[in-house]
Amino acid sequence: QDIYLPWLKGSLGLNVNHPLHLKTLLEETQDFSEQLYQVEPALPENIHHQINSETLYSPNDQEFRLGLCHTLNQLDQQHLKVALKESYQWSSVSPEQRIAVIEQFALILEHHKYELIALCINEAGKTWQDAIGEIREAIDFCHYYAQSYKGLAQPITLPNAANESNKLIYRPKGTFLCISPWNFPIAILTGQVVAALVTGNRVLIKPAPQTQICGRRIYDFLIASGIPKDSLYFLPATNQLSQQLVGNPQIDGIAFTGSLATAQVIQQELLNQRSYAIPLISETSGLNCMITDDSILTEQMVKDVVSSAFGSAGQRCSALRVLFIHESIYQETIDAIIGVMKRLKVDHPRQFDSDLGPIIDEAALERLQSYIQTLQEDKKLLYQIQLPEMDGHYFAPALVKLHGIKELTKEHFGPILHVIKYKSNDINQLIQDIEDTDYALTLGIHSRDKHWIDFLCTNLSMGNIYINRHITGAQVAAQPFGGHKKSGSGFKAGGPNYLLQFVNEQCISENI
Ligand code: SER
Repeated sequence: QDIYLPWLKGSLGLNVNHPLHLKTLLEETQDFSEQLYQVEPALPENIHHQINSETLYSPNDQEFRLGLCHTLNQLDQQHLKVALKESYQWSSVSPEQRIAVIEQFALILEHHKYELIALCINEAGKTWQDAIGEIREAIDFCHYYAQSYKGLAQPITLPNAANESNKLIYRPKGTFLCISPWNFPIAILTGQVVAALVTGNRVLIKPAPQTQICGRRIYDFLIASGIPKDSLYFLPATNQLSQQLVGNPQIDGIAFTGSLATAQVIQQELLNQRSYAIPLISETSGLNCMITDDSILTEQMVKDVVSSAFGSAGQRCSALRVLFIHESIYQETIDAIIGVMKRLKVDHPRQFDSDLGPIIDEAALERLQSYIQTLQEDKKLLYQIQLPEMDGHYFAPALVKLHGIKELTKEHFGPILHVIKYKSNDINQLIQDIEDTDYALTLGIHSRDKHWIDFLCTNLSMGNIYINRHITGAQVAAQPFGGHKKSGSGFKAGGPNYLLQFVNEQCISENI
């Protein structure tokens, strides 16, 4: 059934391939770009900064502009404990009003889209296309969760037992800690925070250290929309500090997107520090595969492979990591992929024709470089683009040959595509090997054989399956996103059940 969702923002009406849009984008973002470029070097390193009521409640705009959006490396847990113990104003705001505030926030985001696009490019190294998609997704999350919350705002009348009336209501859980990633510093942060807020919770925003300014701007806009300051805190804390925060008894739930390793640490901290279970909604890593057969349309498949593996410099949890190619079309497919790779442009993300921007930071770049070196030594590297000397954390997209997916023990978060040749007889083993990775995020299938497609969908338990298309860029509402096993826990973001994780159910039975 086709449902037209009028609020889905498409590309925010911006198309980077359109000369007029391009001109508008350049003009509208120029001021912000320059401003941020000045701010960046001014960021003080490791300022010893204790949380106090001022930083908790009112980091002001001037402070942000001056670049004092610093990382907290010490947290006054006692102060936080006291602040969080007090009741918060947002809990007594009506559901209708909460929905209106979130809709207002969406309008503010739309109004500030050029600033946010510039921020995504400058702070997170996103290409224009990705930055536009990012802001659009954030706005979509706001509308979607605001509208979905209407279904939870009213009590549900239950069957009456003899002389008793029964109803079910949904109450906020209390305080949510939202830990967001650098690869979607605005969209994912907004999605987590808005879901927790619209359902009536108080929220602590813990942005990724690499993209705190993006996080800080979202905080500003939420406050400007009408979220009371005692109900939303911005905590640009170090990862170590947020580990401590997890144990804070005032926190009633955690929404986390990031690496599997960090999710494991949080889970362990919850076990160690908390006396009862609180929800951990997590979105983590994937060893995402695409399976192709000999009925494919090669050009379409290669286009989807290249965009899924190398788009966003491979820094999406949904990105393609392993391509299975049937032996009968192996060499021609490899040649076609290399042909397209040769034309990829790795460049500064502010260049409009840049296909891939930088890797997020030096540490991430070094991890990729050391992995490629090992692959080279093992003679597994099939092809890597040659890059000129470049200033910045740039990494050349690479194609790697493996014999089986078992050779991969973890996700490598960058533009590296592994290919595996398979024979028709291998298919059951191949499915078993993919399942045995214990990752379950995205899967691509390219084929014109309906039975084959059905067979793979039935036998592979991945979170999101994409058929005859690229495997990244899930759209809010249309493609609820998220995985299970090592790839995550909880209901999918942008889906009909996501908000249920932020509320407690209360059943009230009255003798009448
Ligand atoms: N939701 C993103 C995508 O689908 C990944 O986080 O690509």
